[in-house]
Amino acid sequence: MNSSDAVYDLDTAGLPKHVAIIMDGNGRWAKSRLLNRIKGHERGADTVRMVVRTSREIGIGVLTLYAFSSENWQRPPSEVAALMRLLKRFLKSEEAEMCDNNIRFNAIGDIARMPADVRQILQHIIRLTADNDGLLLNLALSYGARDEITAMVRALAAKAASGELEAADISAELIADHLYTRKMPDPDVLIRTSGEMRVSNFLLWQIAYTEIFVTQTLWPDFSREEYLSILRDFQKRDRRFGRVEL
Ligand code: IPE
Ligand code: IPE
Ligand code: MG
Repeated sequence: MNSSDAVYDLDTAGLPKHVAIIMDGNGRWAKSRLLNRIKGHERGADTVRMVVRTSREIGIGVLTLYAFSSENWQRPPSEVAALMRLLKRFLKSEEAEMCDNNIRFNAIGDIARMPADVRQILQHIIRLTADNDGLLLNLALSYGARDEITAMVRALAAKAASGELEAADISAELIADHLYTRKMPDPDVLIRTSGEMRVSNFLLWQIAYTEIFVTQTLWPDFSREEYLSILRDFQKRDRRFGRVEL
């Protein structure tokens, strides 16, 4: 750990258990440099490495990264192909680091829609890291919260139809248990880079009480210092969960 930076200011007891990030702004980063959008995605991959490393070092439990949305399939085929290529490259280059650093890898989303070669490497790394109990790196791929909620409703309806479940048994806990994020705590922090004030179909159920941070910084420019500064700001927030201070 780099002791000269802002880590020392963090209250290790008050760290978020789960950080979720909408990694936005790769295209704008490239455009502002008159580069192809793909260059922005390439640089964005370096920021992913930094955020994973920092999260592991400081002891975050779960890091969920929105890497590709269900809507992103509508981008030009050349951009989709480049993103898949970069994802494969990223997974291959990080495999050893995940194993060496006790990182458990998981993917959430409509993974069946991913290309077969990407699916294969995802499954390989999920299996390889299944027994690790350090940081859970949760990559959202072909992910859409409405798809996730639809799948949950279908699963519960099927159980009700087969008599396994009564309508009255359906609770918030049971719903959470049928989402991709089952067994994970809800995100404490949601970060969105590059300034858009929207959630773009990300973790709609899970962010009910999440603290939201939107930064103007474009994802390729997002730094360790800014990440740590957001975590410090999070520790100053008063999370009331609808209650009043007594
Ligand atoms: C985020 O950057 C990466 C993905 C959505 C895959 P964008 O590609 O959305 O970048 P902008 O929003 O066009 O700048
Ligand atoms: C959200 O970014 C999805 C990811 C970061 C993977 P988008 O760039 O796709 O979202 P919109 O289009 O600005 O809502
Ligand atoms: Mg975008």
